[in-house]
Amino acid sequence: MNGIKIRGTGRCVPEKTVTNEDLARIVDTSDEWITTRTGIRTRRHCTTETHTDLCVKAAEDALARAGVSTDEIGACIVATVSPDTLVPSAACCLQSALGLPQDILCFDLNAACTGFLFALHTMECLLNSSPRKYGLVVGAEALSRLIDWEDRGTCILFGDGAGAAVVECREGWPSSPAALGCRGDDALLRVAGPGTGEPPLIHMDGTKVFKFAVETVPQCMDQVLQKAGLSVEDVDFFVFHQANARIIDLAVRKYHIPPEKYYKNIADYGNTSAASIPLVLSELQEQGEVVPGSRVLVVGFGGGLTWGGMLIEFA
Ligand code: UT7
Repeated sequence: MNGIKIRGTGRCVPEKTVTNEDLARIVDTSDEWITTRTGIRTRRHCTTETHTDLCVKAAEDALARAGVSTDEIGACIVATVSPDTLVPSAACCLQSALGLPQDILCFDLNAACTGFLFALHTMECLLNSSPRKYGLVVGAEALSRLIDWEDRGTCILFGDGAGAAVVECREGWPSSPAALGCRGDDALLRVAGPGTGEPPLIHMDGTKVFKFAVETVPQCMDQVLQKAGLSVEDVDFFVFHQANARIIDLAVRKYHIPPEKYYKNIADYGNTSAASIPLVLSELQEQGEVVPGSRVLVVGFGGGLTWGGMLIEFA
């Protein structure tokens, strides 16, 4: 199988910034608690923006940065749990807004916070059987719609945003080493759907999910490094799902990763689920921290439960 590389990234976040002090006026919490327990200082919430607006802007930015036109796109995947509509999918809404070709697959993928990684891996498989060389992968969430404002343990965590990547697949490029998995367990992290009769709000056993994340991140890293035949020193940059700064700190301490090789933007955006990894990738590319040839180890974990690691190169 031929591999993919990331050619261009883009992002979009809503205008409205919600501070920890804003939340302390709604629920019994404090800036001090939120900052020390999570690393989050602000998050963005949609007001007038739709989920599709975020996807379109992020995708347009990624296409422009990649120098790829819409008619070169061979598939479009939107990783999300919070689309505007279940049908049409967010990917079909994006296809229509951008004018992507009609003879390609456009679909949504739900793997919660690991969605962007599942989508990258799926895109690599799809592009191997496509006459077009480029794929559009978006992670987008409007999680502010799913917040339970009576639960101070979760309402402070989540934010809205979208990140996008245009990936390229070429004959002879090795497939991206990946370790992805799932274990059905809806007791730990759950958003009810139409079949339940319950309101679609986020419920999470934070302590147990924290423990799962801390155990899972090193397992994913070890598996990907082993598959790639690389050591930590061979990796140019590490990108972690931004769920809690403490989870990232534990991982970088365990692997002795120097500060110039990883990045946190959780203070600004909170946990944006499927959008969190491409938001980081987009900021890194814009800042010149990743350049053509950079090898980035990306790690995600989340509801499902789902998890994944992938070594992805920039083109
Ligand atoms: O993206 C998908 C994956 N998600 C994650 O990886 C999230 C993983 N979990 C976490 O990040 C953390 O578990 C949380 C940030 C969600 C919670 O932090 P914690 O250190 O695990 O706190 P806790 O739930 O154990 O609660 C500790 C105390 C409790 O009070 P008592 O029982 O000790 O008196 C909570 O009621 O903190 C209280 N608490 C709060 N206090 C002020 C919970 N939420 C808040 C709050 N403000 N917002």
